[in-house]
Amino acid sequence: MKITSTGLLALSSLLPLALGQSQLYGQCGGIGWSGATTCVSGATCTVVNAYYSQCLPSSASSSTPPPTSTSSTGTGTTTSSAPGSTGTTTPVAGNPFEGYEIYLSPYYANEVANAVTQISDPTTAAAAATVANIPTFIWLDQVAKVPSLGTYLADASSKQQSEGKNYLVQIVVYDLPDRDCAALASNGEFSIADNGEADYHNYIDQIVAQIKQYPDVRVVAVIEPDSLANLVTNLSVPKCANAQTTYLECVTYAMQQLSAVGVIMYLDAGHAGWLGWPANLSPAAQLFTSLYSNAGSPSGVRGLATNVANYNALVATTPDPITQGDPNYDEMLYIEALAPMLGSGFPAHFIVDQGRSGVQDIRQQWGDWCNVLGAGFGTRPTTNTGSSLIDSIVWVKPGGECDGTSNTSSPRYDAHCGLPDATPNAPEAGTWFQAYFETLVEKANPPL
Ligand code: GLC
Repeated sequence: MKITSTGLLALSSLLPLALGQSQLYGQCGGIGWSGATTCVSGATCTVVNAYYSQCLPSSASSSTPPPTSTSSTGTGTTTSSAPGSTGTTTPVAGNPFEGYEIYLSPYYANEVANAVTQISDPTTAAAAATVANIPTFIWLDQVAKVPSLGTYLADASSKQQSEGKNYLVQIVVYDLPDRDCAALASNGEFSIADNGEADYHNYIDQIVAQIKQYPDVRVVAVIEPDSLANLVTNLSVPKCANAQTTYLECVTYAMQQLSAVGVIMYLDAGHAGWLGWPANLSPAAQLFTSLYSNAGSPSGVRGLATNVANYNALVATTPDPITQGDPNYDEMLYIEALAPMLGSGFPAHFIVDQGRSGVQDIRQQWGDWCNVLGAGFGTRPTTNTGSSLIDSIVWVKPGGECDGTSNTSSPRYDAHCGLPDATPNAPEAGTWFQAYFETLVEKANPPL
């Protein structure tokens, strides 16, 4: 959702596949596992749980390069024995949004209902009220929010039975330790220096425990906005360099554990103004591909999510002048450029956030991401996307929730939130920003 960068950091070389040994982050043991039980040099087979042992870097230091290159295997036939899995990897069949009713987030509906009471103009208030009926993703941005997922799944399950429809619940998995490593506004609750990796595993385990109870409800997840894109372009930021190994391990854990309970996942892939720059496409594709194949090609991974919480058009009628120099000036062009570069069986399917993309040409620079002035709600979620690569247009960012505070004395103040094209008087990230919501309503395109 955030950084624009043409910068490109040197990638470590291809990790050679030693026959009979599992690769870094590959599986190396666990109940039902019949593959290699030793790891390539530099990695140690580590028991994660009774069902799953994994080759993790031998030392906690960052000297071991993480997988950043296309694996030489990755045939998609790797077996997985994570808890609850059948042991065989079967890619998600078809567009997971087809034939499903999307569960409306009660959390967002409540935010919108409160917002409507503060709007005096009856026409605007009526338009604003309709936003509660447009599906947005549910952000599990703190471990304390995970129990609410159980409530929503129970509700979706009972609606499913009473209405005779299939329900799909949309979540964002967003709680990595040292989260938002290249910015400040969305720094999270877990720290790598203070047990963050174990805290993250516990967070994922809690999500898994909730989902396991409702196997009848489909869950679609966006995995960790910004995290992998930061590893492509922002390793010059010390916090990102320090987080690299942990991010890879944690995202691998999330993919494997959520896959085991049938979650359909889209890994966050930044946006056209970030990974869409020609110099960044190939390293990005290599990172996604190697991460996926080293994780054992988890069956739940369906593809990539783009433009999360950003403002780019899916198809721009004319290129915004700020995009000059990037031939991939909109999300469609970015996706069409990236998809053929994904290798090793990585599923090239996409979802694209258009929640706040209704008005174009509003930014002074493409890298501006914080509460951009003049944004309007965009195209409604639909599977009518105009591209066979794109499963659905979605609204990932709940419009009206803040991107970051403009209070310069906050520890999470990020200078992007004080720029001339950022809306002033902004509260903390994730909290309600009434003035911003009202503008999104007024400038919605198509209108509400
Ligand atoms: C930002 C916030 C997070 C919130 C999300 C969606 O990333 O940091 O707390 O859940 O936006 O509004």
